[in-house]
Amino acid sequence: MTKFPYALGLVAAAIALPASAETYQFTSELKGHPTTLVLFQQQDGALYGQATLPQATHNQILRAAEAAQFSGKQGQKLEILAPNGIKSARLVVMGLGDDTLTEGEINALGGQLATHLAALPEQQVGVLTSGIDNGAEFAAQFAHGIELKSYRYTRYTPESTAETKHYQVVAENQQSASARHAALQAVEAGVFMARDMTNATAGDMYPGSFAEQAESLRKLGVKVTVLDRKDLEKLNMGALVGVGKGSEREPKLVVAHWQGSDEAPIALVGKGITFDSGGYNIKATGTSIIYMKSDMAGAATVLGTVKAMAMQKAPVNVVAVMPLAENMVSERALRPGDVVVTGQGTTVEVTNTDAEGRLILADALWYAREQYQPQMIVDVATLTGSKVRALGREFTGLFSDDSSMVTELSYAGERVGEKLWRLPLAPAFGDELKSDIADMKNTGKSAGASVAAMFLHAFVGDARWAHLDIAGDALTSTGTDFAPKGATGHGVRLLSYWLTEQAEAQ
Ligand code: BES
Ligand code: MN
Ligand code: ZN
Repeated sequence: MTKFPYALGLVAAAIALPASAETYQFTSELKGHPTTLVLFQQQDGALYGQATLPQATHNQILRAAEAAQFSGKQGQKLEILAPNGIKSARLVVMGLGDDTLTEGEINALGGQLATHLAALPEQQVGVLTSGIDNGAEFAAQFAHGIELKSYRYTRYTPESTAETKHYQVVAENQQSASARHAALQAVEAGVFMARDMTNATAGDMYPGSFAEQAESLRKLGVKVTVLDRKDLEKLNMGALVGVGKGSEREPKLVVAHWQGSDEAPIALVGKGITFDSGGYNIKATGTSIIYMKSDMAGAATVLGTVKAMAMQKAPVNVVAVMPLAENMVSERALRPGDVVVTGQGTTVEVTNTDAEGRLILADALWYAREQYQPQMIVDVATLTGSKVRALGREFTGLFSDDSSMVTELSYAGERVGEKLWRLPLAPAFGDELKSDIADMKNTGKSAGASVAAMFLHAFVGDARWAHLDIAGDALTSTGTDFAPKGATGHGVRLLSYWLTEQAEAQ
């Protein structure tokens, strides 16, 4: 059996290019003469890094700033070509604004620099951060931001050659900058894994090939378990098996466990629909169906997060539980009106085959609870169009009754720039899920994102739990501060930050 049955797959199999080809070096003093030099300006305040420059260069910056009315507002840029007194061809001054920046804001500045330089031929870039408060952290986060935005997906264009840029980041505390950067590169590897998996077509990314990706984490010390259809049937996971029935690619449940501490585990449950046609409630062509290869983004995010933790040997006990299925139409597929029996024993009337995410999550949430007795559960899912209509792509929907999880997850989102907005969980939405012939049905009539969340709520028992609806966040058609067009890996940075804070609080 060939692993890649399609023409593009044959090309893709041959290559394993790193997603990002930039190189980084942290130094305590500027070495050589980079073709581009980058400095930073506090709004109406200090110009950092200028101490290493000749007076002539400094004077020119002051004059140019005045001429361009550059005050150092956050994100503002001043560019000088052929600057006086130095060999560099280009000098860029970036505005820091007048407030302390979050990690995400520093990443965004790095991303803006990457975008700015992408079209330019310069290969050697020197970034001068000396003097900036908390400079080691700034230097590492700035480099992280450059890398996040410089990601390229090349699986289907293996001939393309990306220009490589070499960054030299000058920081006062070069060693701690470099150590912080290494930790952030672990997060980045998790983000890039999630992006690669989400960008892959549904022809290439299906439950079996997803499981292989998870298995690749074994070399990092992650314990990976793959349950196939027969195992799922034995465990009576009729909802996951039901959703997967219509596809010749059988459903699976994959578990990836990084046990970096002896605390009770934190379970991350991710929706893994490798393609969502809608099933018999088929999605209209020409609309969102074209994006539905990304309906496994939740699963990719939790897997990427485990990779990020394992790569930095983080002292956290985290287990990712990923239900995987392809929601297709065939003579064997679920019919609207069918009843499935979940692992928990609850029966569900499938009033809409396109509300499949909550079905597979029901079994996975139950499984995570039964198998791991987690101290907390966070699920991540591209769950509803309703979430996109309510919050767009600017915010992820957060549903939880646990006030400290709400506070801590929201804080993490604020810090890294993957912001959360809380939406209600309330019994009234659950009332809409009453069925005449089963314990529940899988769709209601009103507030779609909240109804879906209340459906999941029926499967979490008394566990501490939060649900993140990332519909719309997983793909970008324009690019964001942190990602080029395509898959974003949304949630890996948020969860990595949150898990790291949890570990530090222990
Ligand atoms: N995967 C979709 C939700 C989605 C929509 C994700 C747009 C990303 C972008 C989900 O399975 C779905 O189809 N949800 C339906 C549920 C409805 C039938 C109750 C929806 O939200 O329309
Ligand atoms: Mn659907
Ligand atoms: Zn879906």
